[in-house]
Amino acid sequence: MAGLNIRDFEPARDWREFAALNFRTFRDSIPADEAVNEEEFKRHHHWLLSHFAPQDPGRNKVFIAEFDGRYAGHCWLGTQTDFFTRRVDPWIFDLSTKPEFRRKGIAAALHARAEQYVRDQGLPLLGLQVMAHNEAAAALYARLGYKARAISMKKKV
Ligand SMILES: CC(C)(COP(=O)(O)OP(=O)(O)OC[C@H]1O[C@@H](n2cnc3c(N)ncnc32)[C@H](O)[C@@H]1OP(=O)(O)O)[C@@H](O)C(=O)NCCC(=O)NCCS
Repeated sequence: MAGLNIRDFEPARDWREFAALNFRTFRDSIPADEAVNEEEFKRHHHWLLSHFAPQDPGRNKVFIAEFDGRYAGHCWLGTQTDFFTRRVDPWIFDLSTKPEFRRKGIAAALHARAEQYVRDQGLPLLGLQVMAHNEAAAALYARLGYKARAISMKKKV
């Protein structure tokens, strides 16, 4: 796609944009009918970034999408240990496109790069979690060939 460049994450250069877009995606992952203390969430997000350390190349791989030289989106790939098998699978923690760049194929291109990276490691599976209210992401992932493996449920009591 003309104007699109996908490159490796450079923490010193990308951190501010990465953290801001990731904050928005994680905050929006909480269903609208759940009460959120915004200050607590900010602290929690800070903890998530320090704990899961996207800047640590030993544990994560992050790709950045630039469109016409501007930060347009990212894909943060980490790992998750399977609850039942203890297999460590590559896992998409965050795939996000900034609102002004959506529906141009940027998330699909970021995902293609991440999928190739996983294949190059000789790994057979790539996983992710999608929230039930996130229709855009669910449509994207269905189109990319993902099938639900678990359905997590909650009820009001
Ligand atoms: C979901 C998201 C990443 C899609 O990014 P994008 O760059 O706009 O996606 P693409 O342009 O690559 O879309 C590829 C395909 O996915 C599907 N899709 C993407 N957004 C969609 C939407 N809002 N509604 C329906 N289908 C959608 C379509 O099939 C689309 O192809 P098309 O445009 O030819 O119809 C983006 O909406 C986003 O950043 N949302 C907030 C963050 C988020 O929820 N991330 C996922 C959770 S980790």
